[in-house]
Amino acid sequence: MAPAPDADGAPRPAPVAPAPVAPASVEPAPVAPASVATRPRAGTPAVVARGLTKRFGETTAVDGIDLEVAPGESFGLLGPNGAGKSTTMRMIGAVSSRSGGDLRVLGLDPDTHGPEIRSQLGVVPQEDNLDTELRARENLVVYGRYFGLSRRVCAERAAELLAFAQLEDKAEAKVDSLSGGMKRRLTIARALINEPRVLMLDEPTTGLDPQARHVLWDRLFRLKERGTTLVLTTHHMDEAEQLCDRLVVVDHGRIMAEGSPAELIRRWSTREVVELRFGSDRNAEAALRLDGLADRVEVLPDRVLLYTDDGEALLARVADRGLHPTTSLVRRSSLEDVFLRLTGRSLVE
Ligand SMILES: Nc1ncnc2c1ncn2[C@@H]1O[C@H](COP(=O)(O)OP(=O)(O)O)[C@@H](O)[C@H]1O
Ligand SMILES: [Mg+2]
Repeated sequence: MAPAPDADGAPRPAPVAPAPVAPASVEPAPVAPASVATRPRAGTPAVVARGLTKRFGETTAVDGIDLEVAPGESFGLLGPNGAGKSTTMRMIGAVSSRSGGDLRVLGLDPDTHGPEIRSQLGVVPQEDNLDTELRARENLVVYGRYFGLSRRVCAERAAELLAFAQLEDKAEAKVDSLSGGMKRRLTIARALINEPRVLMLDEPTTGLDPQARHVLWDRLFRLKERGTTLVLTTHHMDEAEQLCDRLVVVDHGRIMAEGSPAELIRRWSTREVVELRFGSDRNAEAALRLDGLADRVEVLPDRVLLYTDDGEALLARVADRGLHPTTSLVRRSSLEDVFLRLTGRSLVE
């Protein structure tokens, strides 16, 4: 597919080329005894994917992605709905097989070591799948029992995790009676019951109100501080900026860019952005008169974005041209701008 042109005619960057396959990523399948073979070496990457692909009939949901997650890292997949994030998470979680490419999770191949991988992961799926008939504490205990933990260990960990999730006073409440944010925290607590090496979170805060999102971010940040490896997906750039040490921007099953939030912004955007609103039917026309003022101009239906390193100086020059937007705003560049630059579309439509 040819890259779509920018508003200013510059071509969009092509998706990043696949990295050469490192010899370490094609480790032979571990051999018996299982207790030794399945124990990852210190420093084994949490996840290595090379050319990872998933097809559903005619649809290619994941189109040959390369990524590597280091132990202790907080790694994100940022992309819009339909980008292939959940499909990727399910392959990493060893609940969906890949159609092509190579994948190692904690050094193991999900095709041959699904149970070993699943026992070392904590999974927070996009849709909460708590047992709504059970109370909060019971959800944790029952889940712990699936992992073969003793009743005593389950009870101890459930108590600790209810405290961590700030749900102690809801321990005996039925799941049905919990708010969306509480259910999400309970799902995270449940995912931690087996003391996983990697916590996988698919859209951890989508659909929550801002306050509930901040409570959740705080909990996830604590896990990150403790050194838990986090792999998360989101279509909220603020969430990616808050939580991810490093992320990949995904669109249509392909990786468009990779780096820390700051690196991505430095590479793909300018320091500042000026947002001008001239009224919905006048933005495109006004943009023509802004020619040459900014490094790059993006015309959105509701506003014009001018990319520059000095927003205030640019605003003054807009006024010099006799242009009077209804509203104007200077802000720092965000991952939203990176996404727009890479794909020509907004992250949240
Ligand atoms: N089980 C499935 N069967 C068929 N198509 C699917 C299935 N799961 C996902 N897809 C398709 O794969 C693409 C990526 O979906 P998904 O991984 O859920 O994206 P995201 O999580 O980024 O929103 C979409 O086009 C979706 O419709
Ligand atoms: Mg999804």
